[in-house]
Amino acid sequence: MRICFVCLGNICRSPTAEGVFRKLALEADIANKLTIDSAGTGAWHVGELPDPRSRTAASRRGYDLEHRARRFVAEDFERFDLVIAMDRDNYSNLVTLARDRTQVPMIRMLRSFDGTAGIDAEVPDPWFGDGDGFEEVLDICERACRGLLEHVRSRL
Ligand code: 4NP
Repeated sequence: MRICFVCLGNICRSPTAEGVFRKLALEADIANKLTIDSAGTGAWHVGELPDPRSRTAASRRGYDLEHRARRFVAEDFERFDLVIAMDRDNYSNLVTLARDRTQVPMIRMLRSFDGTAGIDAEVPDPWFGDGDGFEEVLDICERACRGLLEHVRSRL
């Protein structure tokens, strides 16, 4: 199963979700059955490592974020089975990029896998806020990725 996490810049939220999910998949011994990637709907940071604030917060919890930012392109819908948006803007940008309506069901909101959140709940963008936003992103990603892991496991 091929999974791509998507946010705006691909330097804060989606590489964090990617790193958290990869570690869970390794611990569950299913990483060899998965392709795990991330991308952004915007191109400003293409080629960059994740934001230092994301990398520092993640490394304190044992995640190495080494992804290089890239832009999500329409062809990615052929390369993935699940495309996971961090917020509603990402979701609607992805729907606009989809070739036709058959590709829309593979787009999901990350927090739809978080049992404690509403179906439309978002991962807030930490980029403009203070440092606490990065811890909140990690808390949310850890909760939602546990739910996503169960979802993926039941489909392998
Ligand atoms: P991300 O955060 O979408 O979680 O990677 C952002 C990173 C950069 C910008 C916006 C959001 N930016 O405007 O450059």
